[in-house]
Amino acid sequence: MTHVPNTPDSSPANPKALYGGKSSRRITVRDIAAAKARGEKWPMLTAYDAMTASVFDESGIPVLLVGDSMGNCHLGYDSTVPVTMDEIAVLSAAVVRGTQRALVVADLPFGSYQEGPVQALRNATRLVKEAGVGAIKLEGGERSAGQIRLLVEAGIPVMAHIGLTPQSVNAFGGYPVQGRGEEAAQQLLRDAKAVQDAGAFSVVLELVPAELAAEVTRTLHIPTVGIGAGRECDAQVLVWTDMAGMTPGRLPRFVKQYAHLRETLGEAARAFGAEVVGEVYPAEEHSFH
Ligand code: KIV
Repeated sequence: MTHVPNTPDSSPANPKALYGGKSSRRITVRDIAAAKARGEKWPMLTAYDAMTASVFDESGIPVLLVGDSMGNCHLGYDSTVPVTMDEIAVLSAAVVRGTQRALVVADLPFGSYQEGPVQALRNATRLVKEAGVGAIKLEGGERSAGQIRLLVEAGIPVMAHIGLTPQSVNAFGGYPVQGRGEEAAQQLLRDAKAVQDAGAFSVVLELVPAELAAEVTRTLHIPTVGIGAGRECDAQVLVWTDMAGMTPGRLPRFVKQYAHLRETLGEAARAFGAEVVGEVYPAEEHSFH
């Protein structure tokens, strides 16, 4: 899919800015590191298909995550746990094809890296080679440091993910806020340092008290990407279907809806249905003779 990227409306002073900057080449992990050094904030969204990804790319979103949230938001599962490598690979390739500028990061799904570093490397390599993603994300702090280290040594940039790690929903018994209490906070700090020491280029902090996320952000030299982790993180990520009002039902408190696409799409579908039944569509201008 080809398109000319638009720069976002608000053009900040710095032409190198990750969001709103002038560069039209693809964002790399070096650009992400430079943004942290400049103290610049940036947005990240999930994407699961080429067309939606192209909208976000044209809107200047610098990093797109082909998250295993596709399980809930795209594939109709009730958690991220069933998502497979084949599913991630197909949708990641679509997102890469739909984008020209964004750094595309793909999740390693549950069961594709827990056996150890070699399994992680095999599956990450597949996503880099087959789908063309620029980086991999995997869950876990100290417990995943070995996997992160081997991927980074092999030349694959890794985004870590700590705090609430949805692939462990069965162990957590739900999706509770993490890092509450002194012991849990210390563990989160150890996890953050472990992934940085292993070579991760950034770390997602999910459902973590804002004060603790702020401390992690001050402590690390790699950027933190918050989701339900307050305003002090270097970047913020949202699941696109939540952000755009496509996800049905109750949403977590940290979500802000910037559109109501579910309503809009429903209205469009009902209008189409009514016009077909009422013989309004197709009209003369939609017909061939
Ligand atoms: O899978 C996903 O969408 C994620 C984000 C919520 C960070 O991991």
